[in-house]
Amino acid sequence: MFVSYKVGILGMGTVGTGVAKILLDPVGRHFILGAVEIYRVGVRSLTRKREIDLDPSIYTDNLEAIVTDPNIDIVVELLGGIEPARSLILQAIAHGKHIVTANKAVLARHGDEIFTAAKAKGVYVMLEASVAGGIPIIQILKQALCANKITAVTGIINGTTNYILTRMSASPNESFEEILADAQALGYAEADPTADVDGYDAADKIAILASLAFGDRIKLEQIYREGIRHVTSTDVARAAELGFVIKLLAIARNYENKGLEIRVHPTLVPKDHPLASINGVTNAITVVGDPIGEVVFSGAGAGMGATASAVVADIINILSSVKANPQNLNQLMGCSHQHYATVNPISASTSQYYLRLLAFDQVGVIGDLGHCFGKHQVNLETILQKHHDQGLAEIIVVTKTVSELNLQAALTEIKTLSALHSVPSVLRLLF
Ligand code: NDP
Ligand code: HSE
Repeated sequence: MFVSYKVGILGMGTVGTGVAKILLDPVGRHFILGAVEIYRVGVRSLTRKREIDLDPSIYTDNLEAIVTDPNIDIVVELLGGIEPARSLILQAIAHGKHIVTANKAVLARHGDEIFTAAKAKGVYVMLEASVAGGIPIIQILKQALCANKITAVTGIINGTTNYILTRMSASPNESFEEILADAQALGYAEADPTADVDGYDAADKIAILASLAFGDRIKLEQIYREGIRHVTSTDVARAAELGFVIKLLAIARNYENKGLEIRVHPTLVPKDHPLASINGVTNAITVVGDPIGEVVFSGAGAGMGATASAVVADIINILSSVKANPQNLNQLMGCSHQHYATVNPISASTSQYYLRLLAFDQVGVIGDLGHCFGKHQVNLETILQKHHDQGLAEIIVVTKTVSELNLQAALTEIKTLSALHSVPSVLRLLF
């Protein structure tokens, strides 16, 4: 007897459209897709013209009707945002549906209640598409690397900002707004691109990755987060002169006896580092584990096809697992974390820093700066003076590894110097 599996899709935007395209064209893919039926699709607008041709009666703007429909096996949540996504996921779980979601924002904030509810109900919550688009990093951490003690996960995990920084590097005269508008048109950016530009999306994703890598839940508010809004074309050019590329990195480290460090910030990456050559919407993640050492994964991090590839793989994994063992969940596909980790505050961190300072072009300014840095134990690796317009000198400083507290103390004092005009940039180097 032919058994079909019924999928209810919440959202038919960029990702939903990509998922429907794959599900409507199963030939040549995994055989189980031949048994998957798009049963209902929930959207906001019933009159919007859609890119794919589905029977109009499949669409509804009553999303509750989908998550409570007894015929539906899997609910695929591709709405974005927190509500109604969170409530619909919980309602679907309560009705015994397996969940596939690409929604890192909801998982990073409400993962605890969602996974607790799923465990109690005996259903899967699959999230491959929520981090790094087409790179199967969730499965890698949950399954392929599960024999390792993971000590570090470092990545370019926001496609929009990597696309922007790459364009800023290639064409310094283009405006930030112009480049962001292109990222939106290409379907990379979040509905509110503040999430991308200000680092919230990358923080959500590193919270998910750190939780899987280190085995504890992560409180989002403990993650240090800085976006790319303050990175200028001048910084990109100066970094290049010094042998670096600026990337928005998400970094999670588990130090033996020192706890966790999790941060998102623009970072100067040496040009010969594997992450330096990751351009455009491509994402890349390095994972360090014992005994595997360092492994690097890269691929399209956002966009219709890459994300849909991850969503559909989750559907296939659920169905093949349910077919093989209808009574018991596959433990490697679930989430069993109960406790919250404590993440060290950024004030406890150390780093190398790149500083760009503007000073009035007068005698003794370099000496004054050197004195302030020295007084606060900030050792310098490089100090360069460049010409600048309007009687100002641009001074580029690269420090050695120093404590955040000492750096901030030195900067506070430097800002009181009469020769100082401003401090346009303070960025960290990859450590
Ligand atoms: P879109 O904005 O393109 O699509 C959202 C869809 O959800 C639309 O079809 C919209 O309906 C529907 N929708 C949103 N809110 C509601 C609501 N309250 N009620 C009913 N329908 C609603 O988003 P994306 O496809 O880009 O993203 C979807 C999810 O995937 C997000 O969580 C995002 O973070 C994640 N993601 C996106 C990636 C990407 O590259 N775009 C990559 C990885 C993850 P309508 O069409 O009628 O407006
Ligand atoms: N807005 C996200 C990005 C989508 O640019 O990376 C993929 O999660």
